[in-house]
Amino acid sequence: MSSRVFRWFALLLCLAFLFALPLVPQSANSGAIFRNAPIHFSLTNPSLEAKVDALLRRMTLEEKVGQLVQYTSGAPMGPTRGSEDYPAMVAKGEVGSLFNVADARAANEYQHIAVEKSRLHIPLLFGLDVIHGYRTLGPVPLGLASTWDPDIVERSARLAAEEASASGVRWTFSPMVDISRDPRWGRIVESAGEDPFLGAAIARAYVRGYQNGHLDAPNSIAACAKHFVGYGAAEAGRDYNTTEISEHTLREVYLPPFYAALEEGSATIMSAFNALNGVPSTANPYTLTEILRNQWKFPGLAVSDYTSVAELIPHGIALDGSMAAMRAFSAGVDMDMESGLYHQHLAELVKSGKVSEARLDEAVRRVLRLKFALGLFDKPYTDEGRENQGPLPAASLEVARRAAERSFVLLKDEGVEDRLVLPLKKDALHSVALIGPFADDAREMLGSWECHGRASDVITVKTALEQKLGAERVKYAKGGEIRSATDAQINEAVAAARAADVAILTLGESGPEMTGEASSRAFLDLPGRQQELLEKVAATSKPVVVLLFSGRPLTLPWAFAHVPAVMAVWFPGVQAGPAIANVLFGDGAPSGRLVVSWPRTVGQVPIYYNALDTGRPAAGVDLTRPPKDAQEKFVSRYIDVPNSPQFPFGFGLSYARIVYSKPEISVAQLKAATMNEQFHNSDATNKTATTVAATVTNKGTVAAEEVVQLYVRLEGTDVEEPVRKLVGFERVSLAPGETKPVTFDLTADAFAVWDMRNEWKIQPSRVHIWISPDSSQGEPVELNIVP
Ligand code: BGC
Repeated sequence: MSSRVFRWFALLLCLAFLFALPLVPQSANSGAIFRNAPIHFSLTNPSLEAKVDALLRRMTLEEKVGQLVQYTSGAPMGPTRGSEDYPAMVAKGEVGSLFNVADARAANEYQHIAVEKSRLHIPLLFGLDVIHGYRTLGPVPLGLASTWDPDIVERSARLAAEEASASGVRWTFSPMVDISRDPRWGRIVESAGEDPFLGAAIARAYVRGYQNGHLDAPNSIAACAKHFVGYGAAEAGRDYNTTEISEHTLREVYLPPFYAALEEGSATIMSAFNALNGVPSTANPYTLTEILRNQWKFPGLAVSDYTSVAELIPHGIALDGSMAAMRAFSAGVDMDMESGLYHQHLAELVKSGKVSEARLDEAVRRVLRLKFALGLFDKPYTDEGRENQGPLPAASLEVARRAAERSFVLLKDEGVEDRLVLPLKKDALHSVALIGPFADDAREMLGSWECHGRASDVITVKTALEQKLGAERVKYAKGGEIRSATDAQINEAVAAARAADVAILTLGESGPEMTGEASSRAFLDLPGRQQELLEKVAATSKPVVVLLFSGRPLTLPWAFAHVPAVMAVWFPGVQAGPAIANVLFGDGAPSGRLVVSWPRTVGQVPIYYNALDTGRPAAGVDLTRPPKDAQEKFVSRYIDVPNSPQFPFGFGLSYARIVYSKPEISVAQLKAATMNEQFHNSDATNKTATTVAATVTNKGTVAAEEVVQLYVRLEGTDVEEPVRKLVGFERVSLAPGETKPVTFDLTADAFAVWDMRNEWKIQPSRVHIWISPDSSQGEPVELNIVP
């Protein structure tokens, strides 16, 4: 080949490579969650950018604004609403995105208008809250996170993307990555709990599942990390309420899951309803521009939450709609969900110079880029044949059942004389009494955000137990509704328990009505007469197993003291029954672990494991009784309840007894300077600084899945660090009698602190490291970080 031909060939190769770059390259899952360095993904490539430029040049001011306008086609849920004549508005190019459109046919109808009737033929982008599945609903997100299994989260999200995209949806408002430390807050059910490390790992898994590394594949949907930021810290757990979060806590706790989701490639982000430190998150230039764009270099689209632009008026930082639009847009919200205020005021704001044209173009580019990246210009229509109206395929049900089984957290299992109540032995039982309002309620199994889930797809606990044991061995008595019961219903349930070998009680709060948005609770006990039902059934002296259906920890001190077996099953989805029956009878093993600390009483809330210590810790003091002298009194404690939660973060039993060895460390002294160099140098961030290892042994007689957890505590730093923080975890399968080594490679990340100078630094410190079954147990090994 002559050198000239070779040069041409090389140039062509380079171009082909550039143009074929995947639009969302998979980034290595480095576990780097505590950094604020620029993230490493791009939504564009040169050919795509050229198309965006060319289109932008042809757009009028009004057409540009149109791309930034989003409306729901369903029933409005917020205080204000937009116009309803969407076909006409779409034809005029006044709408960029619609959400809650019912199905592929309806989406195609709108899309034909956008593509064929609007002047520039720009396709619409259809969004939807696909939160824990589209039709094949799995466990609610808090349950799914309780699997501590990013792989099953990713597979669940992939399945959701395949089903949603078949209906024309190419954008989901998920994952919610808000850290939540307050079970009163109804939306804790949508979260991955209280921990930033776990939250980051789960967030990444959702993004991988939805986007699949190729946004332009017709079965990929764009993810949306929400709600930016601090929404989970709503004061007093009351939805939409104000939050106050220090810079240190913001950086170390609330931001990391967002950073992780965006670094994994999440194409979009949603601003939150709440005010953060006095500035509503939808008009907060510090978070939306300084952190998101200047520090992290996020290239994707920022959408507001539902009418959150209009809500700047009641927040008190805007006097009218125009001012609200101006504040939100200038702060960095590109697209206005539902308030209609960009639609009404943005063009005028640009004309009057209150908003710059450059800012407008920047926002429009982000929308167009996303539409090109999703392949919508090439393939705007959805193949209506892909939508499944028939039964759910076996492979989908398998994903939903596996996720549900792994999400259950066994909280208590104490039979008489060391014999466990669970698993139940199918052949040793003549009959079981199945009691409670959840036993045969298909709708409840879907929880909140049921999307296109159908009650008819659900297999209830009653149906599954009848299949497993034969209908004649299952004595069902509802025992009342969730919020009420008659004496006759309770008596009937007690009689059923008396006549059976064991009573399985399905108790809890209503998924659709008492969890999720606008469902904060000040009391976290059982609604209606369920507590009375429980006590009366327990008084029969039959062994009682409580299956707890909830979207948050419920405070049930009586049950935890008196009932031999309690399992939190959240809202498990369409395979609720089979998953529960499998785990109850030992055909599956409970392996979920709590992702939130479980309070004894609401008075302890907020309660979270990764807390800072006080100058007067209560260590060594018996907190189960009132203080008897000054030594016991003047420490950080309650006088009427222990400080500890009912169950700690990370907790969950299995049917086996698992024993941990004391951890060992490969290198027990590190240099702060070397760590800082590795931390800040992107080529070295994955370099192992030290390795910590332990063995875990199954001393039981049945197989188990153990979630091995790695925690650190740093002391001697210039800011206080939590008494423990999670920096690693691994699921390990153990046959009876089996011992396995578990090894964690720690990188500099694990020791980084947001310091007094507002920078990430690894400081000289003493570090304790635990490998343990939850956040409260284990013996630490020591490491020293020297100057
Ligand atoms: C919620 C969001 C959701 C949006 C669209 C809002 O009320 O806060 O999480 O994505 O509605 O349905």
